[in-house]
Amino acid sequence: MTQKIAIYPGSFDPVTNGHLDIIDRGSKIFDRLIVAVLENPRKNAVFSAKERLDMLNLVLKDFTNVEVDYYQGLLVDYAEQKNAQVIIKGLRAISDFEYEFQMAMINHKLNPAVETMFMMTSSKFSYLSSSIVKEVASYGGCIRGLVPDILYEMVLSKFEADVKCDTLP
Ligand code: PNS
Repeated sequence: MTQKIAIYPGSFDPVTNGHLDIIDRGSKIFDRLIVAVLENPRKNAVFSAKERLDMLNLVLKDFTNVEVDYYQGLLVDYAEQKNAQVIIKGLRAISDFEYEFQMAMINHKLNPAVETMFMMTSSKFSYLSSSIVKEVASYGGCIRGLVPDILYEMVLSKFEADVKCDTLP
């Protein structure tokens, strides 16, 4: 029987608990889930590709059917290379929809054999994004509960702010 393989692409700059939620749920639906770090030409990454991969490998080490990879190029080309039938995207608010709709359409035009599937974020993460994490951290705000605990120090180390984090979520 053909394995159902999905790609969960993103810039993961850094991976958040919202991403982790989608990965956890996606890994239960597909035989193999490939979390692919790709470059987003619209954003300048704060973390290097290696740092983003290291963080993902660390938080995903116990997921037996999830692997982490890096690719430079078109997402649909990568999906074809990996024999993936599906691209998973997480949707938070309506504000995500327009951009994701455009991406799904262009990816379909480029390769109609690869289907984009959307998963709604869990409501507790609906406000969360890598950009918000970086903004909070850059001003010394508390990012506990926003990124996996094991990455807390690693994420903060990128920012010079003096962080006060005395309340746990
Ligand atoms: O986490 P992000 O930044 O929203 O992820 C966006 C990403 C990396 C998935 C997107 O920019 C992407 O697919 N980049 C690879 C180039 C590509 O295939 N673009 C879409 C067709 S133009």
